Amino acid sequence: MTTKTTGVIFLLMAMTIALPAIAADTGKPTVAIIGTGDMGDSLGPRLAGLGYPIIYGTRDPQSEKVMQLLAQTGRGAKATTAAEAAGVAEIVLLAVPWPAMETVAQNLGDLKGKVVIDISMPSDQADDGYYKPMLETSSAEMIQSWNPGARVVKAFATQGSFIIDDPDSVGGPATIPIASDDRAAKELVARMAAEIGLDPVDAGPLRMSREIEALQRLYMVPLLQRRAAAWEPYFRRSYYWECIWDDTMSNPVADADDLASIPETQGPARPCPGP
Ligand SMILES: NC(=O)c1ccc[n+]([C@@H]2O[C@H](COP(=O)([O-])OP(=O)(O)OC[C@H]3O[C@@H](n4cnc5c(N)ncnc54)[C@H](OP(=O)(O)O)[C@@H]3O)[C@@H](O)[C@H]2O)c1
Repeated sequence: MTTKTTGVIFLLMAMTIALPAIAADTGKPTVAIIGTGDMGDSLGPRLAGLGYPIIYGTRDPQSEKVMQLLAQTGRGAKATTAAEAAGVAEIVLLAVPWPAMETVAQNLGDLKGKVVIDISMPSDQADDGYYKPMLETSSAEMIQSWNPGARVVKAFATQGSFIIDDPDSVGGPATIPIASDDRAAKELVARMAAEIGLDPVDAGPLRMSREIEALQRLYMVPLLQRRAAAWEPYFRRSYYWECIWDDTMSNPVADADDLASIPETQGPARPCPGP
């Protein structure tokens, strides 16, 4: 290979990952989607359509599947290795199966300061056929422990990919519980979810990912039972508790003055009835 040919190849490689950290036209941060499977190939095109620059991190950036996905995603989307994609993005969305996660999440380079979204379902089937957790904590907490400087957020975990493609397919927004120890990261992901047409709710700190992962196991139940319809979570706002609640019933959370501001996708709850 000549020096000139090598130079052209290096130039082409550099061009494949040259994405702005922030889109000039939309002001949206670049999102690295790690994994081009069922969720990656739904979230990538959807977020690209909303103005987020997309770079896929994949084991085979030149594959036919990835080429088709890039064409579908449009808007200058790129594909490269997982580590390179994570390196140029502000948001890193991990869309790989849980058994592959440890290897993937420990080899993304320095994630310090990056928002890392965990969508995984670390569950497998028990002897009775229903799902059980594979972890004592949660996938999100494991990812955080492997990458202490990352701003890990649990989100987009409770829905099938078809909800990302078409949020109206269940007749209205599905609820996305979002957990993180980083308030600003939680708000950023909540805005993404609302833009997609979903109903984000603040599920509290990252350890609440365990409850989100339990919710996933619950929504799989009708599928495992081979029922005609499945569940998609939708949390309806209730006025009742707010009307009767007082702090003697339960201590408020310690960071109650610092709760994330989440875009409202439902109208206000009914006012408390008069005395
Ligand atoms: N599917 C859903 O409806 C859904 C809903 C909620 C949450 N989730 C969660 O989302 C995550 C992704 O699910 P999915 O359904 O998109 O999975 P999937 O279709 O099996 O695809 C995952 C992608 O991860 C990459 N991958 C697979 N094995 C790998 C390995 N050993 N090492 C590195 N990369 C590997 C592959 O992308 P490349 O070939 O590009 O490397 C693959 O296409 C999972 O954690 C799942 O629990 C899925």
